Amino acid sequence: MSSIYPPWANSLFWLLSSAVGLGIVSIPLGLMIYVRTPYSTNVRKAVEQPIQFDHRHHVLDDGIDCLFCHHLADRSDQAGLPPTDLCMGCHGQIWIEAPILQTVRESFFEDIPIPWERVNGVPDFVFFSHKAHVNRGVGCASCHGNVAEMAVVYPVASLTMDWCLDCHREPERHLRPLDRITDMNWNPPPLEQLRIGREIARELGISPPTTCTACHR
Ligand code: HEC
Ligand code: HEC
Ligand code: HEC
Ligand code: HEC
Ligand code: HEC
Repeated sequence: MSSIYPPWANSLFWLLSSAVGLGIVSIPLGLMIYVRTPYSTNVRKAVEQPIQFDHRHHVLDDGIDCLFCHHLADRSDQAGLPPTDLCMGCHGQIWIEAPILQTVRESFFEDIPIPWERVNGVPDFVFFSHKAHVNRGVGCASCHGNVAEMAVVYPVASLTMDWCLDCHREPERHLRPLDRITDMNWNPPPLEQLRIGREIARELGISPPTTCTACHR
């Protein structure tokens, strides 16, 4: 035997077999972790927009409310994006020659909507409604994160069925007073949130649906 295999062959054998063994375990494990990470679910991936619109400057610096621009959010299923006229209400007077706003001016004078890229989306077979949430104590930040501090908007939630159902089963963990819906700094300590959440759920008679046909119509 000893003449066929040199002494180090034994350790090489163990090294190789443990590497293979490790691979068998770690490849599926790695994949299982990967499909659950933001890399595969698109969370936190920003999309390229036709104009470098920055929420921080408009919401934080200029104090414009979410509903001023996304004015359908409390009235319709879609939150909607602002029409160019609304941008020009300000940018027809300030920064009127700034190159960074060239595309906004073109859109306005040529009457072509700005082709904003979608950031969040659910598949067509899912029914989602903004007004059903924002008028019932669910704030923008619960689903979109702190948009006021995003240079470029990115999705913060997976928007999967489990994600919807997690909140539908325990809405008190997220409910807030109706006058704080667009507040990006609403963040009471967990126990305080539960107390307020339960109170709002009782007052408004909140009971989110978990039956299939509520979301798949
Ligand atoms: C001055 C107008 C303006 C204000 C104020 C504003 N937004 Fe926006 N918002 C936009 C525009 C324009 C876009 C499209 C470009 C982009 O994605 O940045 C957008 C995009 C978004 C998107 C991504 C839309 C998608 O495709 O999924 C979310 C979410 C959003 N805004 C939430 C908010 C929230 C929450 C607030 C308040 C904290 C807010 N916005 C305030 C103009 C505004
Ligand atoms: C209520 C007024 C107001 C409205 C409405 C408004 N803006 Fe602005 N915008 C400003 C001000 C003020 C600035 C100057 C930047 C700052 O505050 O630091 C600015 C800056 C910008 C800039 C320069 C980059 C940056 O963020 O600093 C871009 C691009 C821009 N706005 C795009 C838009 C678009 C697109 C819309 C429409 C969806 C829009 N703005 C609507 C007031 C407004
Ligand atoms: C319960 C979760 C939830 C809340 C609360 C919520 N959104 Fe959304 N938002 C979504 C989902 C899901 C989508 C994707 C909808 C689709 O694909 O039809 C979306 C899409 C959007 C879009 C893209 C355009 C559109 O209408 O589809 C904007 C802009 C937006 N939300 C802004 C807001 C603002 C502003 C608020 C608060 C006033 C808000 N959202 C509250 C979940 C939410
Ligand atoms: C953070 C909490 C939260 C999340 C996340 C959430 N919901 Fe809801 N949902 C609610 C609450 C609260 C209500 C209101 C229940 C009521 O009015 O009694 C509601 C109501 C609804 C309704 C009933 C609307 C109607 O007109 O009767 C539908 C449909 C719905 N949600 C779909 C969704 C879908 C789809 C998602 C995921 C993409 C989602 N929700 C994510 C809290 C949430
Ligand atoms: C609160 C809203 C909500 C309810 C209630 C709900 N779904 Fe869904 N469902 C969703 C959303 C959102 C998606 C899209 C998920 C995604 O893209 O990952 C989805 C996706 C699906 C899919 C596609 C496969 C998949 O996993 O992506 C099937 C099948 C489905 N749902 C069946 C059901 C059945 C059966 C029920 C009742 C037991 C149900 N759903 C209840 C929101 C809901």
